[in-house]
Amino acid sequence: VGSVDFTNPLRIPDLEPGQVDDSGTRIFDLHMAPGESRIKPGSPTRTWGFNGDHLGPTLRARRGEVVRVNVRNSLPETSSVHWHGMHLPAIMDGGPHQSVEPLDTWTPEWTIDQPAATLWYHPHPHGSTAKHVYQGLAGLFILDDDEVDNLDLPDEYGVDDIPLIIQDRAFDGDNQLDDAANLFSGIGVLGDEILVNGTHSPYLDVTTRRVRLRLLNGSNARVFNFGFADDRPFVVIGSDGGLLPAPHSLRRLQLSPGERAELLVDFTPGETVVLRSYSPDLRTDFFESRSHGGDDTFDILQFRAADTLTDVESIPDELVPVPAIDIEQAVTTRTFEMAGYSLNRETMDMNRIDFAVNKDDIEIWEIENQDASVHNFHVHDVQFQVLSIGDQPPPPHEAGWKDTVQVYHGSPVRIALQFKDFSDPNMPYMCHCHILYHEDQGLMAQFVVLDEGE
Ligand code: C2O
Ligand code: CU
Repeated sequence: VGSVDFTNPLRIPDLEPGQVDDSGTRIFDLHMAPGESRIKPGSPTRTWGFNGDHLGPTLRARRGEVVRVNVRNSLPETSSVHWHGMHLPAIMDGGPHQSVEPLDTWTPEWTIDQPAATLWYHPHPHGSTAKHVYQGLAGLFILDDDEVDNLDLPDEYGVDDIPLIIQDRAFDGDNQLDDAANLFSGIGVLGDEILVNGTHSPYLDVTTRRVRLRLLNGSNARVFNFGFADDRPFVVIGSDGGLLPAPHSLRRLQLSPGERAELLVDFTPGETVVLRSYSPDLRTDFFESRSHGGDDTFDILQFRAADTLTDVESIPDELVPVPAIDIEQAVTTRTFEMAGYSLNRETMDMNRIDFAVNKDDIEIWEIENQDASVHNFHVHDVQFQVLSIGDQPPPPHEAGWKDTVQVYHGSPVRIALQFKDFSDPNMPYMCHCHILYHEDQGLMAQFVVLDEGE
């Protein structure tokens, strides 16, 4: 599977800085609508997009700013827009309770108060998240702060700071998206072709010696195991919720749906090299692994370095502090068992609050996968820290802020979390598997954050 000829220049999603009004609020417009994109030779593909035919612009804001988004829905269906990885009040979260009807506008507003990071946004309508994301609704939300600005990392968007939204897709004979492909596998669609920022068979011209890649696994179900065709090492500098305490060199990096990473890669003048996805290690039995894409390898993107490359600074030894959540202070341990499409033996019910946490409490959550198949686990509102995976500490590239974590059979994952700042007895946040078909089928719970004594 998966060898391509790199005929198309990689599309870079438009950078959307928004408009700052007199009070200093940064305002974005996001308009969801159906469109048509030229993805493969032949017929155009019917897609959905934000402010365009496919995917969405990269939103960008700074720590401390108030942001407001005018989300307008011109789709033929109810949708919603969730700010994945964002710390914000539940009513602004864009989950299934903040649905936007066709022709309506929803206008959430919140203050950015978290470290610089590569977050993303996508629909979250109850029961149809998989379809809406698969049709093309996804975009990045980059957060900046002074600490990261001072680090001298590559930061010229689209030049040496490259967003990569990586998604597998299955096309029918007429180039239309086929979301029934592989449904037999029980994990939803597994496509046999890869799009990067909506580009099929992409290449990227490189003009600097070092490039920063902001990777998002935007697939519905597929786990990618990224690496370069010549096995060169790359340096991981960031996880879901921000930069790591220190850079860490790797040759392979596995991301499940919803996870992000920031990497630095070095090039030599005149070379070409291909970013690939190797067979992921799904830590499951042979048959399950195959039917979940465990055997699949893909070419993702070809880099074409110019004959002369701009030089760069050396990579700092230390990046940003990631203060450990003090688990000595933990007041509650909860367990979450994922099995089939259920979480703790229940499937998602919009009218049932599954549990409540107290604001500011430190909690430990222990997450188990009872199946031979793949699950991961995502929590709204917070960035958490992974304490252990099975009986191992997390590897260095997962030792920063995370909002989504892979969970394999026989290796329970323990995480530490603290819900600060926002409470609302009437509006829940979600936690769920980010394999979108599982989420839609009910592997999701609702929790509220309460003030003490509530
Ligand atoms: Cu990216 Cu609840 O999802
Ligand atoms: Cu799952």
